[in-house]
Amino acid sequence: MSTAVISNIVILAAGKGTRMVSAQPKVMQKLAGQPMLAHVLQTAVLLQPAKIIVVYGYGAEQVSSFLVNQDVVLVHQKELLGTGHALLQALPYIDHHAKVLIMYGDVPLLHPDTLKALMHKVDRNNLSLLTQQIVNPLGYGRVVRDRYGAVKRIVEEKDATESEKKIDEINTGVMCILAEQLGDLLPKINNLNAQKEYYLTDLIDLAAREGILINTFISTDMDETLGINNRTHLAMAEKILRKRAAERLLNQGVCVVDPDRIDVRGQLDCGTDVEIDIGCIFEGNVKIGDNVKVGAYSILRDVILGNNVQILPYTLMESAIAGNDSRIGPYARIRPGTQLGSGVHVGDFVEIKNAIIGNESKINHMSYVGDSEVGERVNIGAGTITCNFDGENKHRTIIGDNVFIG
Ligand code: UD1
Ligand code: CA
Repeated sequence: MSTAVISNIVILAAGKGTRMVSAQPKVMQKLAGQPMLAHVLQTAVLLQPAKIIVVYGYGAEQVSSFLVNQDVVLVHQKELLGTGHALLQALPYIDHHAKVLIMYGDVPLLHPDTLKALMHKVDRNNLSLLTQQIVNPLGYGRVVRDRYGAVKRIVEEKDATESEKKIDEINTGVMCILAEQLGDLLPKINNLNAQKEYYLTDLIDLAAREGILINTFISTDMDETLGINNRTHLAMAEKILRKRAAERLLNQGVCVVDPDRIDVRGQLDCGTDVEIDIGCIFEGNVKIGDNVKVGAYSILRDVILGNNVQILPYTLMESAIAGNDSRIGPYARIRPGTQLGSGVHVGDFVEIKNAIIGNESKINHMSYVGDSEVGERVNIGAGTITCNFDGENKHRTIIGDNVFIG
């Protein structure tokens, strides 16, 4: 029986990510529009732990400024001496009787339910380890079992013998252990290995020797345990998230013409009978009403669309609102601060910036309307431009209702 009632989560995110070949710290690389670390953090938050501790190091300024508004304890690992050393830095901040879940900042696709299951059976005699059976285990730590099947230790790729390299059960990096036992075992880890690093994975060997049972949970979703070490892995993760987002939309009744050709990099909420053609990208927060069609290769970033809106192909819209029954595109560029009323038509090669366009007004061909207020039922003819910049100041252009511009 477990006496621990609270849980702590430690996220290790101090590594450089050499194999990314980037000036950015690995955990800040963008995945579905957000830093990789944001995905790990969101999953951690869903588990409602008493405390989340993030160990950061490489790219300290960038990582800590991303985390500054989050409800986390920040621990700086000044020298990057390995995952065991990273966790040791967090030890003083861990609650004494907590169950401690350890996550890696470069394993961002885990499902909260998998972690919940993992945390359940942890007490003085039991530690949990999330493992995975994979066809190509190259680069991962391998789980070494004795002839009765009990886990003995984890061996890293670089320290593994030829026969150990053939083991196809790998360490995902996720484990759960009581704080007391962590406090006992962690300081005993040494760096006598191929990489001269303090490996957190040596904790398994130490725990097994103390008679603690290592319970493994094998994830059934091959995708969720992907560890991201290089750009190929990053692209794989992006693809997995793309697939997850498309599946979510399909299950909500959205007609996604080709689930392999849609990118959702943020939050997309759709009403009923929405149709999204191929190649569209949604970023930030996008809200779409009922009976809306989004044409091929359109990009919508922080946009709100009413009901019965038609976005024709190759439309670009950012920080803008379009009312019911409006029709935009093809090849329209709607820039920040634009509000289109209901029944508005915006046609090809029209750019609109920071303008309010009244109900049922039409700007159908090759025009620029910026910093303007356009009334209702206005018709703006081809090639119209609102000039609003005198070299120093921008002035608003005001056009009343029922105006006809040839
Ligand atoms: C690690 C595991 C390996 C496992 C794999 C799963 C160890 C020794 N090995 O290998 O068994 O199969 O993850 O993806 O743990 N980090 C720090 N400080 C450091 C070093 C790393 O915070 O000094 C962080 C990194 O930012 C990263 C995580 O720990 O988020 C894992 O480090 P990484 O170097 O990627 O370990 P792997 O070689 O992938
Ligand atoms: Ca890794």
